[in-house]
Amino acid sequence: MITSVKEILQKAKEGGYAVGAFNTVNLETTKAIIEAAKEMRSPVIIQVTEKTIDYAGGRAIFNLIKNCAEFYALEVPIGIHLDHGKSFEIVQRAVGIGFGSVMYDGSRKEYEDNLVVTKKVVEFCHGKGVDVQAELGNVPYIGEGEISEINWEEYMTDPGQAKSFVAETGVDALAVAIGNAHGFFKERNTPDYARLEMIHKNVDVPLILHGASDWENGRVAEVIKRGIVCFNVDTATRIAFVNSLMKAAKDQNDISFDVRKILGDAREAVKQAVMEKIKIFGSDGKA
Ligand code: G3H
Ligand code: 13P
Ligand code: ZN
Repeated sequence: MITSVKEILQKAKEGGYAVGAFNTVNLETTKAIIEAAKEMRSPVIIQVTEKTIDYAGGRAIFNLIKNCAEFYALEVPIGIHLDHGKSFEIVQRAVGIGFGSVMYDGSRKEYEDNLVVTKKVVEFCHGKGVDVQAELGNVPYIGEGEISEINWEEYMTDPGQAKSFVAETGVDALAVAIGNAHGFFKERNTPDYARLEMIHKNVDVPLILHGASDWENGRVAEVIKRGIVCFNVDTATRIAFVNSLMKAAKDQNDISFDVRKILGDAREAVKQAVMEKIKIFGSDGKA
C-alpha cells in the first residue's frame, strides 16, 4: 500500500525502531524489495536517484514501483522517495511525476547555499503536499579517499547548525553525517554517538542515516536510541544482484540463456539481502 514517507518515519520514531530505504533501478530490485517487505511484514521506503531516473526514465520507474506496491503488497506500507536530488529542477521534475517525498541534497554546497536552496525546495514541495529530506554535513562516497585520509571533522553535521537549519527551512527529515559513508568499508571506526545525541536533542524531525549497507546490529541499535529512524541501503543490494549475475556467467552451461532464470536468481539474492537488513533495523513485524 502506498503510504507517505512522513507517516512511515513517524511510526518508526514512535515505535523505537528504524526502517530501511532501499534503492531500486529496475523491476527485479523493486520486486525483491516488495517481496522482502511482504514476507517480513515490514514497512519500507523504495527510492531512486537522478542517475536511475536518467537510466530507467522517471515515469517508468515511478509507475513501476507504484504498480508493484499496489498490486502485490497492499498489506505493507511502501513509501516512494527521490534520493539525493541535487538541484531544484530535479525535485520539480520528480514532484511532477508523482513522488510524494524527495531528498534535496545540498550537502556539497556551502552552508548558506544549502540553506537557501533547501528553503526554496521546502516551500515548493510543501505547497504540493510533498515531504522533504535534506542533508547537513556530508556523507562521503567510496573512492573519495582512503579511510585514513578522510578528515572526518570536515564531513560531520554540526549540531548547532542542524538546529537553525531545520528551524529555518522547515524540512521534514534530516540526513546526518556522524562518521557514516556510502559504500563498503569506509566508515569512521566508531560513529560519533555524542554528536548524534546533540543533534537529536536540537531537532525534532526524524534523522536519516545514509551509507548503511555495512552497518551491523551493535551500531544500528546505538544510533536508533539516538534518533535515527531510517537507514539507506544501496551497495549491499547492488552487490547481491551483481554477484548473482557473475555466478550465472560462470555457470553459463546450466542456464540455457534464459534471462528470466538469470534475473530471477538475482532478484532472489536481492530479496535475501533486503530481508537481512529489515531484521537488523527492527522493522520486521511492524506492518
Ligand atoms: O547514495 C546513493 C547511491 O548509493 C548512489 O547511487 O549511483 O544511483 O547515484 P547512484
Ligand atoms: P550504501 O552505499 O551504504 O548502500 O548507502 C546508500 C545510500 O545512502 C543511498 O542514499
Ligand atoms: Zn545516500
